[in-house]
Amino acid sequence: MQQDIFLVGSGLTRFGEWWDKSLRDLMREAIEAALESSGLQAQDVDLIIVANMLAEVTNNQAHMAALASSLLPHHPPALRVEAACGSGALAVNTACAFLESGRAKTVLVVGVEKMTDASADAISQALMGAADSELDAPSGLTFPGIFGLIAKRYMYEFGLTREQLSIVSSVHHKHATENAFAQFRYELSPEAVSASPLVSDPLRLFDCSPISDGAAACVLSTVHRSGMRLAASQIASDTLSITQRPTIVSFPATRAAMELALCEADITRKDIHALETHDCFSIAAVINMEDLGFAKEGEGIRIYEDLHAGHAPMFVNMGGGLKACGHPVAATGIKQLIDVSKSLTRGRARYGLAHNFGGAGATCGIHVLENTHV
Ligand code: COA
Repeated sequence: MQQDIFLVGSGLTRFGEWWDKSLRDLMREAIEAALESSGLQAQDVDLIIVANMLAEVTNNQAHMAALASSLLPHHPPALRVEAACGSGALAVNTACAFLESGRAKTVLVVGVEKMTDASADAISQALMGAADSELDAPSGLTFPGIFGLIAKRYMYEFGLTREQLSIVSSVHHKHATENAFAQFRYELSPEAVSASPLVSDPLRLFDCSPISDGAAACVLSTVHRSGMRLAASQIASDTLSITQRPTIVSFPATRAAMELALCEADITRKDIHALETHDCFSIAAVINMEDLGFAKEGEGIRIYEDLHAGHAPMFVNMGGGLKACGHPVAATGIKQLIDVSKSLTRGRARYGLAHNFGGAGATCGIHVLENTHV
């Protein structure tokens, strides 16, 4: 990083179904909590970056940046970024560019999504905007369909069993029981995951992240300091369509962003003790462990088996991940950063990593946080 950037405040709404709260209400709640935890005044914010994917489609609301700016009394400049489910990481990365260049000193980043107002069909179709509308969508695929294909192929290539895959969501649900902001705060046995209704063979209901409303906000600054320093912020891209890739059982953008992030933070994988990874579907969590380099090809499930047995080498998705905490798509990447910071504080660990991707890994954002108190 060209400047020291600190995470000085953060705020969340609970993720879930919020029939009685608008996009504005959700953003306001997260922003107020973030400003309060930073100890700063609203006027200290030079710029707002908003992450949002779906507001035009699900809420008939464009111009999200102006909506966010209107929530602060001095109406700071604001802009919106979008990279589907990876919008949150892209927003943090954009904030870093402004902060590193000196064009802003304190930036408020807020991600928001209100998805549950749309019908199941409408939201499935809207989410397919994260895939290729010419090459993927005409076949009738949905996102559970895309990841169902990926899971089928992965099982064929590496022999992963249905019983093994069920461990992933069970681990995430266990973690969510401790998280007051999580959509689903109940435990789920692997057997219950395997027995849940089929969504897209071999994926079942409890392999999928849910449809969620929610917002997450954080305050990043070069002039106000905290014990949480951003050690790396990297984005990488791949083909939008999975049909143009040599394999569907690995996401090269994750691999590329990870190498860049480790290099920028000047650390190795062994230094990382807290990880938030993008488990939009259980199979993605398994593949991510391999793409991030924490497991060999075909062995990503071993980390989850270790977590399930209670002896994993690091904290993983301690807030419940996307599966159990919920996945209001553009808020997720920011929530992950907040969860990494919580894990580092609780675990008195130094480095943590947030891994967020959009679509089927077409955009990947990775952030490394350093707890400077350790
Ligand atoms: N995990 C646990 N419970 C879930 C759930 C999930 N992922 N999704 C829905 N439920 C629960 C609901 O809370 C509801 O429970 P209730 O009857 O006690 O109120 C019940 O299941 C039925 O909910 P409903 O909304 O009718 O489910 P659905 O069948 O319409 O949708 C999915 C289920 C899995 C298809 C939907 O959540 C989905 O599309 N998820 C993927 C989202 C996605 O693609 N995100 C982008 C990732 S790249």
